[in-house]
Amino acid sequence: MAQAVAVRPAVQRDEVWAAPEDHPRVGLRGRSRERERLGRLLTGMRSGRSGVLVVRGEAGIGKTALLEQLVEQAAGSTVARATGVQADMELPFAGLQQLFGSMLGSLDRLPGPQREAVEVAFGLRSGPTPDRFEVGLAMLGLLAEVAEQDPLVCVIDDAQWLDQASARTLAFVARRLMAESVALVFAVREPADDQIFAGLPELIVYDQVIALYPDRINPDALWISAQGVKRPRARQA
Ligand SMILES: Nc1ncnc2c1ncn2[C@@H]1O[C@H](COP(=O)(O)OP(=O)(O)OP(=O)(O)O)[C@@H](O)[C@H]1O
Ligand SMILES: [Mg+2]
Repeated sequence: MAQAVAVRPAVQRDEVWAAPEDHPRVGLRGRSRERERLGRLLTGMRSGRSGVLVVRGEAGIGKTALLEQLVEQAAGSTVARATGVQADMELPFAGLQQLFGSMLGSLDRLPGPQREAVEVAFGLRSGPTPDRFEVGLAMLGLLAEVAEQDPLVCVIDDAQWLDQASARTLAFVARRLMAESVALVFAVREPADDQIFAGLPELIVYDQVIALYPDRINPDALWISAQGVKRPRARQA
């Protein structure tokens, strides 16, 4: 399993989000709408408002590239990352362990039942199946503890391959974040048949033809898939 990563970007920049055009990432073309949306998330986080975003799009559309862009822009923040791994989908809490593994130093500050639930979930001690509610509360507590030092950006790529226990716990956390200075961003490959992240704020990543040249697309030619992803049916002549 990949190790948890919590890194602070080396470059310290102005706290204020700059327009993407002012800091273009070499090689990343277009996507100003998406980058602006992610930038607003960082701005909110830096001013003490937690935020959640589920980045959805089909394979190869550029979700990971946008997450990398987000991490580059997260100067002055702590960054924690996890990636869903198909081979680990049957391992309960594997994804959560990736994301939170580096934050366990704050475990001592949590109430006993939460601490014990996390220790069992992460295989640090034996015990009955942990109460998912306690694990969720513990994750919220850990995020708040870490974000007290610096704003915290949590990036979860390929979330469609998270184990169910991790995905449900993260969705629980995402619905309860408030003023912890945390930004929680998922990337989900479509089509995804899960409903775990349903109802959370979404950023749909369209084909660049739509993103860059919306005026060339006939909106009537867009159809909405079962997953709610708009796709082009035909280009306007
Ligand atoms: N806006 C962009 N400008 C330039 N290159 C891009 C852009 N978006 C994506 N790419 C490139 O396209 C390729 C696929 O992008 P990426 O890996 O981000 O897709 P993805 O949506 O994460 O796909 P998957 O669902 O398979 O994980 C990569 O090589 C990436 O660098
Ligand atoms: Mg990807």
